[in-house]
Amino acid sequence: MSHTRQGVRPMTPYYNRDGVTLYQGDALAILRDLPGACADAVIADPPYSSGGLFRGDRTTRDTATKYVHTGAALAGPAFTGDNRDQRSYLAWCSLWLAECLRVAKPGALLVVFTDWRQLPTTTDAVQAGGWIWRGIIPWTKPLGRCRPVKGGFWQQAEYGVWASAGPLRKEPDYAPCLVGHVNAASPHRSERVHITEKPREVFDLCAQAAPPGGTILDPFVGGGGMLVAARRAGRSAIGIELSPDYCAAAVEHLARGERQGDQTSLELA
Ligand SMILES: C[S@@+](CC[C@H](N)C(=O)[O-])C[C@H]1O[C@@H](n2cnc3c(N)ncnc32)[C@H](O)[C@@H]1O
Repeated sequence: MSHTRQGVRPMTPYYNRDGVTLYQGDALAILRDLPGACADAVIADPPYSSGGLFRGDRTTRDTATKYVHTGAALAGPAFTGDNRDQRSYLAWCSLWLAECLRVAKPGALLVVFTDWRQLPTTTDAVQAGGWIWRGIIPWTKPLGRCRPVKGGFWQQAEYGVWASAGPLRKEPDYAPCLVGHVNAASPHRSERVHITEKPREVFDLCAQAAPPGGTILDPFVGGGGMLVAARRAGRSAIGIELSPDYCAAAVEHLARGERQGDQTSLELA
């Protein structure tokens, strides 16, 4: 299936099989070449451009040292695009979020992941991109699997900022009322394909944002967890990833899921 906008030279996918298409390249450039209104949901886990207490930590350290505890083994290659300051992060997110809105069908749901530090910037960017901001989905982690803050509170949550492309969908056959939080640990370092990989419980919930048979767009694929979850939920997926190493990891993840027989972690009512 071709996802290229009319009048644009067809893009060659890095991978295209069983309803999953992955493009290798810059999200903004590839989004601009996708046709309008082709996605039923957009699930985005961009580089947070966060991590570290000081501006220098955010903008000059690489992801391998920012997001990995001192002395811990690396769980995948470092990735780029994680060093914008807050003003440029807001500008950049607004650009790709506006393109995602063009690519989304009316009523499509959007989830953008972020941490506490970038939460206000992300909710601003979602609205600047033209989406209707609807709420926050907390992803909480068990104690011992997140960062302790001596004298304060454990940094126990990340957040999915959710929004819609105009009014919410209210089709007679698909107007879901989805669970509004997830409690799950990140995969253990030895099982991770990506440094900042999210757990399958997060992706399984997000896969429900599109109707069965619908299409999920993930502009920052990383290790491919969202693509795998979309497939096991019977949704199609369009993914974009800048790093060739992570494109390869995502394809391997898809192959592993296929061999193991994908099982959702959700108990659906
Ligand atoms: C936070 S990670 C995604 C992790 C993924 N959700 C997972 O669980 O494995 C963000 C990803 O975006 C990729 N990335 C960074 N800048 C990008 C860009 N401009 N276009 C596309 N992908 C980009 C990085 O290589 C990284 O793999």
